[in-house]
Amino acid sequence: MTAIKRIGILTSGGDAPGMNAAIRSVVIAAHHYHFAVIGFYHGFNGLLHDEHIKQAQQLSLEDIHNIIQRGGTILKSARCPEMLSEKGLIKAATTLTNEKIDALIMIGGDGSFKGLLDLQAHWPGQIIGIPGTIDNDLDSTDFTIGFATAVNTAIEAIDKIRDTADAFERIFIVEVMGRHSGHITFNVGIACGAEQVLSFENFSIDDKQATLQKLADEINTAQHHHQGSYIIVLAENVWPGGAVALAGELKHKANVDCTACVLGHIQRGGSPVPKDRLLATKMGVAAVQALIEGKHNIMIAEQNNGICHVALVDAVKHQKTVNQQLVDAQQNILALTAQNQY
Ligand code: F6P
Repeated sequence: MTAIKRIGILTSGGDAPGMNAAIRSVVIAAHHYHFAVIGFYHGFNGLLHDEHIKQAQQLSLEDIHNIIQRGGTILKSARCPEMLSEKGLIKAATTLTNEKIDALIMIGGDGSFKGLLDLQAHWPGQIIGIPGTIDNDLDSTDFTIGFATAVNTAIEAIDKIRDTADAFERIFIVEVMGRHSGHITFNVGIACGAEQVLSFENFSIDDKQATLQKLADEINTAQHHHQGSYIIVLAENVWPGGAVALAGELKHKANVDCTACVLGHIQRGGSPVPKDRLLATKMGVAAVQALIEGKHNIMIAEQNNGICHVALVDAVKHQKTVNQQLVDAQQNILALTAQNQY
């Protein structure tokens, strides 16, 4: 058991729907145990800049009223390259000491967790991470806050694209987010019945020309069989130049007309779905309770439907891989290929 009085909290990196629900949950749990919660604005920048004193604010129950359903983050977020330097880390640690913070809770993704890990060398307080990123790429937790909403948003968008694609019997390449992993791509692709999914898990740049030819052949076969609409869900950062370039190359190589559609930041916004609100709320309470238990340098995780603690250092060791059963099912059975479905 520790004697904490003041908990610092911040959101860092790409915002994710459900971050507000997590902030709310931390504040409610902290009030329950009679701790003050100090919110730092703009991610780690709130700890770094001269105006940090103005940016730190004690969060009351009023501040977090009516935010569980809101996307974005009331604390704002940012990326903070300064946290990569010794000087930045020392500045952040100095602010925490000056503000008499006993424990820091950060909601963010793997890059932000690395910042937290580096901070521990400069600051003796307790450090807890809550996984919040639409990418779902953090190892050791089944889900990250925001992933379910982002998948839902992308599916809703692609269902609409399907209507117009079907009406015109068009081919669409829809690019989805995920940074360097295909959790969103495969989950969205399968759930919206995409004819093809192209992501890091089933494509290598060395096979670019062969993949292009295969795609063109498969699209031609589908058209030959009057298949109607045809949707390729493409992971961002996987094809050089993205969906627009792939559409251009298919036209050039095989005279295939494709419409490119980049979903982009629409996937980061919107009201969190119940799954994200619940995950965020459970994790927020668990983070405060972990502080009371004296836990240090951990990430709150969910595994097999239960909340647990994972060493921060383990959480950032590897990028979480996409469920292989999903990848295999899409590749071997669901994808629209001559071999599979005609
Ligand atoms: O990590 C979340 C994420 O939305 C990624 O999916 C995407 O690659 C990246 O952030 C986009 O970052 P930014 O909003 O800084 O362009």
